[in-house]
Amino acid sequence: MLKRGELRRLNILEGSVSSGKTWISLVLWALWVACGPEDAGYIMVAKTITSLRRNVLMLLESLVGARNFTVSLTQKEARLFGRLVFLEGASDARAENKIRGMTLRGAYCDEITLFSEDFFNMLLSRLRVEGAKLIGTTNPDNPNHWLMENYLKRADKLDLLTVNFTIDDNTFLPREYVKNLKKEFSGMFYERFILGKWVLADGLVYGMFKPEYVSEEVPRILEYYVGIDYGQSNATVFLLAGLGEDERLYIIDEYYHNGKKEQSPKSPYAYANDFIEWVRGNDVSRLGCIYYDPSALGFRAQLAELGVGGLKAANNDVLCGIQIISAMFDKGLIRISPRCKHFVDEIYGYAWDTKSAKVGKDKPCKENDHVMDAFRYLVMGKFSYWKNRLGS
Ligand SMILES: Nc1ncnc2c1ncn2[C@@H]1O[C@H](COP(=O)(O)OP(=O)(O)OP(=O)(O)O)[C@@H](O)[C@H]1O
Ligand SMILES: [Mg+2]
Repeated sequence: MLKRGELRRLNILEGSVSSGKTWISLVLWALWVACGPEDAGYIMVAKTITSLRRNVLMLLESLVGARNFTVSLTQKEARLFGRLVFLEGASDARAENKIRGMTLRGAYCDEITLFSEDFFNMLLSRLRVEGAKLIGTTNPDNPNHWLMENYLKRADKLDLLTVNFTIDDNTFLPREYVKNLKKEFSGMFYERFILGKWVLADGLVYGMFKPEYVSEEVPRILEYYVGIDYGQSNATVFLLAGLGEDERLYIIDEYYHNGKKEQSPKSPYAYANDFIEWVRGNDVSRLGCIYYDPSALGFRAQLAELGVGGLKAANNDVLCGIQIISAMFDKGLIRISPRCKHFVDEIYGYAWDTKSAKVGKDKPCKENDHVMDAFRYLVMGKFSYWKNRLGS
């Protein structure tokens, strides 16, 4: 518990998901603003205005009541205990310019690791009133992230208070909810989002993959779908997957052609015909959606021209995809046919990029990642289904 007088210039609450960081930081923020001068500058920032509304403003309203907190998203302004509060999305290209001229007494920041360092520095330079403060929250990230390197690690030099939270600190959550939430994370994601640790994305991306997941056995398939990673100068991959009646994901067949390596480049038309042939050859009864690489618009058009339906641009949120797949492997929810040789080869070499890790970014190596990308697309296509399945 914070004692009187302990708030510093910068106050960052960091740790696992649902640990109460936003709740506690908003109580601090609301009381502090309510006790401050009425004519000072205040701002609340999240990555986007939409995430600010969803993660922060709604909770703040429920904490202090609608009489004490009103919001106009179109004006990007709110009133908190009568004090004017600007609202901003840090990822908005104009946001940095907008705050450039401000003089602020207080800033509330949600999920600071998602801000650019430039934006954060600019915000700090605007906190130029005597006694100005920043109150913010974040989940742990890469230990080389700028927020850790340049701020949290230097807390004693910067008049910065950090408080670390783990999910078990939040005793207000139902036990069952916490138990299910823990199942949604595995490996590095578990350490960060459940244990609240700043750990490196290191080694194999799917280190939890086990050889016994490669299996010939396939139960009755309820629905089929496909993931496509298209490359003109790289490999093109089609992956056929099915939802088994045992509620597992079965990777049933793969198509792989690397025009560059095999020195036989193919036109988009030829690839689209290969696709049709390949699906036909698999004798699929109910083909659901086809999730394609969202940058492959030309190939999408080519498939559509040949009458292929059910095409959907894939969600390409890499970390979110890796996170859910890791948890699915951990829970034994994925099986791969031994026919998918490139899949198995790739997964054993699919590693985090050490160069990116050194500069605080989590990225898998870009080499030999085409099957892994197609795989991620098709899992993300049924994201809600798999998330519920993990929590059950
Ligand atoms: N002191 C509290 N009293 C009552 N409910 C609380 C308290 N702290 C947290 N909660 C509830 O617990 C849930 C999670 O809290 P909160 O949103 O603050 O977590 P968080 O650490 O910000 O999570 P995330 O990292 O996912 O943003 C919320 O629904 C909130 O209402
Ligand atoms: Mg939060």
